[in-house]
Amino acid sequence: MLYTTNSTFPESFLWAAGTSSYQCEGAHLTNGKTLSVVEKNINNQYADPSVASGHYQLWETDVELMKDLGLKAYRFSISWPRILPNGRGAVNQEGINFYRNIIAKLKEYHIEPIVTIYHFDLPQCLQDEYGGWSSRKIIKDFEEYCQVLFDHFGNDVKYWITINEQSNMFQLPYLMEFDEQLPLEKQKFEMNHIMTVAHAKAIHRCRQTIADAKIGPALGIIPNYPASAKPEDILAAKHADDLRTYLFMDLYMKGKYKQSVWNYMVHKGVEPTIEPGDMACIKTAKPDFIGINYYQSRVVKFVPKDTAEKELKLNYDGEADETQFENIPGLYEGAANPYTNKTQWDWEIDPVGLRYLLNDIYDRYDVPVLITENGIGTMDELTEKKEILDEERIDFLRNHLIQLHLAMQDGVKVWGYVVWSFIDLLSTSSGFRKRYGLVYIDRDDTDLKTLERIKKQSYHWYQAVITSNGQSL
Ligand code: BG6
Repeated sequence: MLYTTNSTFPESFLWAAGTSSYQCEGAHLTNGKTLSVVEKNINNQYADPSVASGHYQLWETDVELMKDLGLKAYRFSISWPRILPNGRGAVNQEGINFYRNIIAKLKEYHIEPIVTIYHFDLPQCLQDEYGGWSSRKIIKDFEEYCQVLFDHFGNDVKYWITINEQSNMFQLPYLMEFDEQLPLEKQKFEMNHIMTVAHAKAIHRCRQTIADAKIGPALGIIPNYPASAKPEDILAAKHADDLRTYLFMDLYMKGKYKQSVWNYMVHKGVEPTIEPGDMACIKTAKPDFIGINYYQSRVVKFVPKDTAEKELKLNYDGEADETQFENIPGLYEGAANPYTNKTQWDWEIDPVGLRYLLNDIYDRYDVPVLITENGIGTMDELTEKKEILDEERIDFLRNHLIQLHLAMQDGVKVWGYVVWSFIDLLSTSSGFRKRYGLVYIDRDDTDLKTLERIKKQSYHWYQAVITSNGQSL
């Protein structure tokens, strides 16, 4: 639909906020938990995950804040190495109890738990034993981990997210470990295939165990716009979308490899090994919804084959204009957008892109959407009155919600919206320097301070949004 109506958000709309385990819990080696790969990697470069936001100790305070906020749902992830310290086998009862208590409290307050099964935290022991996601051995271990979760929490948890940001996992250096002796791109496509099979197995197990559950993946999506009306640039944007988004979406939703991407992989000799039964398993595991993590859009232009290769280099410290866009010579290269503002970390702020993306995804796949992450990283400072006046965050969230609502009026089915993040947490790329929360945590990268929870201005704004069911944006 090209014109808007005055419709409101449905009563069932899930107003939510989210976190992930290693980013907020801390206690990373406490009560039986072992180390995960991402905790090891970020510990080397950014902030220390041993305390994070102190949520392991302070979870009751945090759930009270959720209740006051009026959340209808809370998205959080379960830490695989907290539940299965050896990656498989013996279940850590302390880990089960921790999440069971949180879930019980959420239910008491009528806050729907949305549980992510895997948010980057692979048990380090499985990496050491067989190379983690590079080995098909992980499929069985992941399936068993999922079964443990479904058996223990299936009565209370009806919304499950299989894997967070499968696509980004291969882009960001601190999320995965690769074998330096083997060609990188080949490893990435092999891992991607293995992870897709594991995701599909999780869906099958969920359907067998919890009859009334809804389950789907959460994909981080950056829509690509052409840098100009030049036909080569238009095609470049399509290639970027195919490689970075539709490869994954087609696997999840259609159970097949996108032909153009398959051709690309064969041409480069990096296509994955497909074993008998894999594609049938994937095809029959159609998700109930797609989770979309949306933060930004990107512009791309065509670059000829003889261009030098460029890797993606992120801005980690928030000193703007440090990002180097990646390219694939012969296909595309990232470029700046002259029409959008950027965050301090150079992320393009593009609310309209959310409406565009939602329409595109819904047209292609006809599947309900849950916005599983949307938010802005900023350097929040406490005022003398101990306030956080984060108007930039409010503007960001408001403008995205307006576009989300327009997309719903266009006809896209959206079940809910998860603000990233509920409390400040360890930004995967930049520690506590980059804050996303509706609630401020009194600590920084080097000083743990008091860990006091302080409601930001955006918390009060979101509270009014929820109370009015989106009328008061
Ligand atoms: C998503 C992740 O990629 O982006 C989150 O699912 C992450 O875990 C969020 O926190 C923001 O990214 P960053 O790097 O700014 O923390």
